[in-house]
Amino acid sequence: MKIELSENKVFFENNGSKKEIHPFWLRERVNGEKFVDKGTQQRLFDPTELKENIEIKNVSLSDKYLNVSFNDGVETKLTVQSILNEFSSFNDVKLIKKIKWDSSLENLNNFEFNSNIFEEEMMYEALISFYKYGFVIFKKVPTENNFLVKFANSIGSIRRTNFGEFFNVKSKPNPNDLAYTSLPLAPHTDNPYRNPVPCIQILHCIENEVSGGNSTLVDGYTVTEELKKDYPDYYKILTEVKVRYQFIDQDVVLEDWAEMIQLDENKNLKQVRFSPRLDFVPLMDKEKLDLYYAARKKISELYNSDKYRLEFKLNSGDLLMMDNYRLLHGRTTYDANEGKRFLQGCYIDYDSTEGRLKHLKRKFNI
Ligand SMILES: [Fe+2]
Repeated sequence: MKIELSENKVFFENNGSKKEIHPFWLRERVNGEKFVDKGTQQRLFDPTELKENIEIKNVSLSDKYLNVSFNDGVETKLTVQSILNEFSSFNDVKLIKKIKWDSSLENLNNFEFNSNIFEEEMMYEALISFYKYGFVIFKKVPTENNFLVKFANSIGSIRRTNFGEFFNVKSKPNPNDLAYTSLPLAPHTDNPYRNPVPCIQILHCIENEVSGGNSTLVDGYTVTEELKKDYPDYYKILTEVKVRYQFIDQDVVLEDWAEMIQLDENKNLKQVRFSPRLDFVPLMDKEKLDLYYAARKKISELYNSDKYRLEFKLNSGDLLMMDNYRLLHGRTTYDANEGKRFLQGCYIDYDSTEGRLKHLKRKFNI
């Protein structure tokens, strides 16, 4: 990638393809304290008020800098690197390659907590690991005073829901969700009925004295890729049919329609939703429903298979951060008479992890 000049025009060259950079594009990026606020890096001018026929009057290029003067009298010195950065997606978390995993995964992505971790390079590594595997576990996280809230807000901002700022997971009388019982929970994604669905779930183990109640994780990315390879018809219908997900409580009705396997504009996995107690398929032709039900049965078999399920015990102080758009989670049954089992949970959105990751990348010049 490089910048070239020809007759007062600026070109971007990459692997033999050469494109002119629009003069207005460069004019919008003029820097200097008259044009950009030093602290916020926000523009001090409104580019929509500039005249449309911006042209370059003079331009020169050195190794590091591009000096441009425009026909409206403005001159600027732009760094070549800052221009090149805009043409590469070097900062894009989508470029962090996902690593598919199944039950044979041995490295549980453990990082030991300390009170400065949010500003340390270790947090950068933990977040990279999160984007690769879809989860990360922090050990020895303080368990007092709802520390989970402080933890979440130190990465980004907590995402409040109708369950509150955070929720306590322990068996209780008259539960409004099966999570608050000692029953086993099959792998599922959380809150598929919300719009938008919470991106990341944080679960912090405060106490765990019971012998069961292990946590389970399944990589929805691995499973849906297997389904695509072995059962393409099932994959196709699950990526096409929008299902109604529903949650009903005394004072709220939450509903959202979405595919069980949602793809992005490039047909790559965007989000899995799976919660077979909360999904309602629309009435379709019988043949189509035959296929849909067979597909849902198959993906449920895969999600519940030992082959894909990681099972481990969360101990007091362990904090699991997982991607609710990619992973499914659950727990094994336990006997509430054996002792206490108490977890706290909350949600944060992707802008929190992305924002912190990019901040640490900038800070450590990685
Ligand atoms: Fe859950």
